[in-house]
Amino acid sequence: AMTPLLVLLGAALCSLTMSTEIVPQPGFDLKEAEGKWYLIGFATNSRWYINNRDKIKMGIATLTSTAEGHMRVSYASLNKDGSCSRKKYRANKTDIPGKFVFVSRRNEKHTIMVEIKYDNFALIYDMKKKKKGCYILCRRIFSSRLILLKEKFRQLAYRVGTLTENIFFLPKNGTF
Ligand SMILES: *[C@@H]1O[C@H](CO)[C@@H](O)[C@H](O)[C@H]1NC(C)=O
Repeated sequence: AMTPLLVLLGAALCSLTMSTEIVPQPGFDLKEAEGKWYLIGFATNSRWYINNRDKIKMGIATLTSTAEGHMRVSYASLNKDGSCSRKKYRANKTDIPGKFVFVSRRNEKHTIMVEIKYDNFALIYDMKKKKKGCYILCRRIFSSRLILLKEKFRQLAYRVGTLTENIFFLPKNGTF
């Protein structure tokens, strides 16, 4: 008697995932998104990130666009010893504005600009095979709407299937 119920539940969950497909904000404009952003939180289902979350620090992401309209991301954060870590990569544009693809060896990472207010915050979804996550960037560290933004971010994190305990906000002083 359990089987039909489980099948039904499976089908329901399946259609639920389909209907909550994450799409970019219509009319996304990379030019407007250029400049400095602070990483203030992230959510992930990646074991590595969860186990190493104390290594992830608040830092500054700088977005720029190339002549072809691809996105350059440069991320700088401060280490405990005062040194600085930098990461840089280019995510290519796709046919869908606000959806980017980054290819490294055999992996393909998709980055989707889910919601952005160019002068305030950006909610971004990242997906590499089964690794899914999202993060929130803000133009200022001290946003007056931080509580509201955190709630918005949690909703996206749930939509992409991350668990409450895997949603992390970075404290203002840097590390956890
Ligand atoms: C990304 O864009 C560059 C320049 O347009 C191109 O040479 C490269 O093949 C692209 N890479 C991918 C994975 O689409």
